[in-house]
Amino acid sequence: MCYAIPGKILEIKDNNITVDYFGEKRKARNEFFALSLGDYIYAQGGFVVQKVSEAEALSILETWKELFFKLQEIDEKLASKKPTDLYESANALRQKYHGNSCCIHGIIEFSNYCTSSCLYCGLRPDNKKLTRYRMSINEILAATDYAVNKLNFKALVFQSGEDAWYSEERLLEIVNKIREKSPCLITLSIGERPFATYEKLYDAGARSALLRFETSNPKIYSQVKPGHSLESRIDLIKRLRQKGYIIMSGFILGLPGQTKEDVLNDIKLTHSLGAEMFSFGPFIPHPETPLAAHPRPALESVLNTIAEARMSVPQARILVTTALETLDKDNALRLGLMAGANSLMINVTPEKYRRLYEIYPDRAGIDTPPEKRINSILQLLQSIGRAPTDLGA
Ligand code: 5AD
Repeated sequence: MCYAIPGKILEIKDNNITVDYFGEKRKARNEFFALSLGDYIYAQGGFVVQKVSEAEALSILETWKELFFKLQEIDEKLASKKPTDLYESANALRQKYHGNSCCIHGIIEFSNYCTSSCLYCGLRPDNKKLTRYRMSINEILAATDYAVNKLNFKALVFQSGEDAWYSEERLLEIVNKIREKSPCLITLSIGERPFATYEKLYDAGARSALLRFETSNPKIYSQVKPGHSLESRIDLIKRLRQKGYIIMSGFILGLPGQTKEDVLNDIKLTHSLGAEMFSFGPFIPHPETPLAAHPRPALESVLNTIAEARMSVPQARILVTTALETLDKDNALRLGLMAGANSLMINVTPEKYRRLYEIYPDRAGIDTPPEKRINSILQLLQSIGRAPTDLGA
């Protein structure tokens, strides 16, 4: 089983290709590969990320053939009944705009050092109880190789605290070496770095950036991120988009002082920043932070926000975040996917570090080996008729 379906190239116009799989036509940009008509490729986020041999593509397509249409049918059936609530309306809209495709990204959390003292986050430097780790470049490359070449991920997020040990030079080395051996859509989630660094990383092959603005309310922002400016964070996100990065952005739900109106503004800002992927989740208190006593929001309010985001921006991809999964480890993923969401992430950080990336305690999914989690997620997706595929627009 794979987390994307290979497409056969029908047309090439400069850097733009059209592929077909099971009669569906999709477009993608090719910036990295020498391609000819009839070749098979994987695309993620609208970019060609891998070329595959015909033999491999045909064998994967064979395993998909029947399942593909069966899944579509299940999804259509679930989404086409007359909506009786906001979640069902949002789910119908999700189906209308995206069909049954569900984006699956792996995430590697490579360092829990952080220089930023965000009041909500367990990685803040004042948390002296946390054992800190930094993965070496070789460890990152080995984890990436495993995720791409053994687990079949086509899209990976590389996340860390704001950790200057990973200098521009080291980050470039990481991106260049990933491109050599483990082709995938590279998403950087490394916090606020000089735009010039992000530019070089794009030129080296990174194509996506995950950077939340956290809250659109400047007053709350300056309270929870002392010494940081919302304006400069937003400015960076805008410049990343101009450069060509796919933007994944969003906010935290349930920050102190946040109103319903703030959340609507958060959704609007995510949209106006041109985020292709909405990433927002509930605040979860960490005992070693100043917000230890601040409550987490209810599951329903997160599901409502997913549905509202779907209703106001139907074309968005909306992620079920780990924080949402943490609110109800057995059900939240399914509930989120049925309330308008269509993306998810699977943690592929090496086991010995997974527990230490403690932005908040007891995160969902970190005790389960990725292989096992992949299986249970694929089962869940099958039960609701979603195909783990992403072939761009
Ligand atoms: N609860 C929920 N989300 C959090 N983040 C950090 N700390 C918390 C918390 N306690 C989120 C922030 C950050 C992302 C990596 O994790 O939004 O951007």
